[in-house]
Amino acid sequence: MIQLRNVTKKYDKQEALRGIDLNINEGECIVLIGPSGCGKSSLLKSINRMIDIDSGEIRVFNQSIESYRVEELRRKIGYCIQGVGLFPHLSVKENIAIVLRVLKWKEEDIDQRVNELLSMTELPLSYINKRPHELSGGEAQRVGVCRALATNPSILLMDEPFGALDPLTREKVQLAFKEIQKKLHKTVVFVTHDVEEAILLADRIALMQEGKILHLDTPNKFMNLDKNEYGSDFLGKDYSLRLLKRFTLADLNLKEVRSFNSLVNLSLGSSVKDGLSYCLNAEQSIYFNDNNHIYELSYNDIYNFMQRINHE
Ligand SMILES: Nc1ncnc2c1ncn2[C@@H]1O[C@H](COP(=O)(O)OP(=O)(O)OP(=O)(O)O)[C@@H](O)[C@H]1O
Ligand SMILES: [Mg+2]
Repeated sequence: MIQLRNVTKKYDKQEALRGIDLNINEGECIVLIGPSGCGKSSLLKSINRMIDIDSGEIRVFNQSIESYRVEELRRKIGYCIQGVGLFPHLSVKENIAIVLRVLKWKEEDIDQRVNELLSMTELPLSYINKRPHELSGGEAQRVGVCRALATNPSILLMDEPFGALDPLTREKVQLAFKEIQKKLHKTVVFVTHDVEEAILLADRIALMQEGKILHLDTPNKFMNLDKNEYGSDFLGKDYSLRLLKRFTLADLNLKEVRSFNSLVNLSLGSSVKDGLSYCLNAEQSIYFNDNNHIYELSYNDIYNFMQRINHE
């Protein structure tokens, strides 16, 4: 769906991209992660020609991006700018609808689409007439996400779209995004600083450093990085623990039981990380109820699961 071949980009003397090769499959979510200044935003912007590369080639829908008219390319690709970038003089509705207006959508279709997008990102419908300065940082970011999704593009470029959200809202929006992604199968390139966000959302993670991709692999495989490598430092020594957030207790194929002591407040939809947290407070197994079925969870279940995904 998107191919980058030996892409380089310099700003004056500053090398931002140094020979990037990357193949992104249709329906895949690639998360770019790495320290500030490593070239994440530059990579993203090169795909929809917000910046022009110096050498190499980028292909989108099997066609070099040079062969598209810039507006045509941008229309095919939804884009959330780092730092939101809403137009201050336009209302929430007009910000979201900006491309729909260019495409001459009918007013009632615009209204319907804007409402759909607001509910999807859990923004009150009454916000349509607010101006960006009347929104919190997190709300403005969600409007930015709505704008990127407005035309239902098959490719989405998202530059730290949830960076300004408080942790609770952030988790909600991440899970909502994951659900949307499951249904809509967009091809997504997503930039974040947050390792857990990368683990939760990525089909593959691209770890960048100084304009290069150091490692590209599934979140599970990053567990096996040599602990002395730079990448392992960046992702944190607690990477395996963080990985537990990606899975739910339903993934563990737990035993159903009839006898139990007391029940804890978990369900099959809870993350394995939450399950482990409960185990840490218990002497042996813990038990929880999901839909009138009682399940038993112990450290061993979690250990065995980790062994399994480690060898997959
Ligand atoms: N318009 C520009 N002019 C000059 N240098 C730039 C410009 N944009 C980016 N750079 C430089 O290119 C390098 C890569 O920047 P980029 O914005 O791609 O990093 P990033 O990984 O997105 O960082 P952050 O996590 O802080 O957003 C940095 O050294 C930056 O200073
Ligand atoms: Mg950036």
